[in-house]
Amino acid sequence: MTEFARRVEGVSISGIREVFEAAGEDAINLGLGQPDFPAPAHAREAATEAIAEGLADGYTGNKGIESLREAIAEKYARDQGVEVDPGDVIATAGGSEALHLAIEAHVDPGEEVIFPDPGFVSYDALTRLADGVPKPVELREDLTLDPATVEEAITDDTAAFVVNSPSNPTGAVAGEDDIREFARIADEHDVVCISDEVYERIVFDGAHHSPMEFAETDSVVTVGACSKTYSMTGWRLGWVQASNRRIERMLRVHQYMQACASAPAQFAAEAALTGPQDRVDEMVAAFEERRDVLLDGLEDAGLEVPTPTGAFYAMPKVPEGWVDEVIDSGVVVVPGDAFGVRGEGYARISYATGMEELKEAIEIMQDVTRRID
Ligand SMILES: Cc1ncc(COP(=O)(O)O)c(C=O)c1O
Repeated sequence: MTEFARRVEGVSISGIREVFEAAGEDAINLGLGQPDFPAPAHAREAATEAIAEGLADGYTGNKGIESLREAIAEKYARDQGVEVDPGDVIATAGGSEALHLAIEAHVDPGEEVIFPDPGFVSYDALTRLADGVPKPVELREDLTLDPATVEEAITDDTAAFVVNSPSNPTGAVAGEDDIREFARIADEHDVVCISDEVYERIVFDGAHHSPMEFAETDSVVTVGACSKTYSMTGWRLGWVQASNRRIERMLRVHQYMQACASAPAQFAAEAALTGPQDRVDEMVAAFEERRDVLLDGLEDAGLEVPTPTGAFYAMPKVPEGWVDEVIDSGVVVVPGDAFGVRGEGYARISYATGMEELKEAIEIMQDVTRRID
């Protein structure tokens, strides 16, 4: 009888789903990883126009339509001050596929991938699916990733390390000095830095920086997406950017796995990237306001919570039993250990939900904290 492949038996469905299943129907959901805002109208219109005009019926080029890749290149010139050749961009099915391409193209069986713990669930799973060896590393007390920790973890078998700023699940944003260091480490050790920047625009304090700004060799592979910035998770449109030789390798995986990203989504993404950006600014301002309310509420309850400076998550330290009790009381939060063993004792709270619901949830969480302490 055909057995299942070892690599697929080595990964399981994310613990986040289990939490959703445990929650009641009327629960307030602070477990979601997607913004609660509509996608920009001009993005939707661009897709429907492309469909109506028959422009989205066929395959696009494997890398995606030229005008979208030009828009992505312009984004890097504007935001990072880095000149990117549109030919060195592949449009993908979300940031998820971009991460997959980066790992598939660079990690041989038995090679190690270093990533933050707690960290986004895909890094571990994608490494295993590539028959690589996951090497989760601890964070600083403020939940940022210390470049020194990454450098110490590098061995002769290390193929790549992942930097994720702003971060899911911590909301931490790496400072410019750390980002500079990540670029140096990748250059000096000749190890690929996969920079997952899908939350790049959602920053409240300080500024987003990418290792691509500082690298002196082609050691950085950058992952981006419309998913969070434009509230377009369902459109499944992201991208990967790297040097031409790396893009050509990743294209081999993309070509056979996906052929091309969905054509209507590519038109929508181009419009999102090139159109008015005021919706993004409004969304980020709303997230910042909610973050402040949430932080105050958690701190009033006596919980220790590093100040998140980006994305839409907070990660307080919580007493034993807190997550289960909060879920039983009708608020969905995700246990920190769903993001790695070092996430134990934390909870991830998403504030991609309306202010009224958030305030209601804060009261419930405060109540639970009083009961448990
Ligand atoms: C850190 C991080 N990277 C990548 C992704 C994948 O994003 P996408 O929906 O574009 O595939 C997510 C989604 O939650 C994420 O949080």
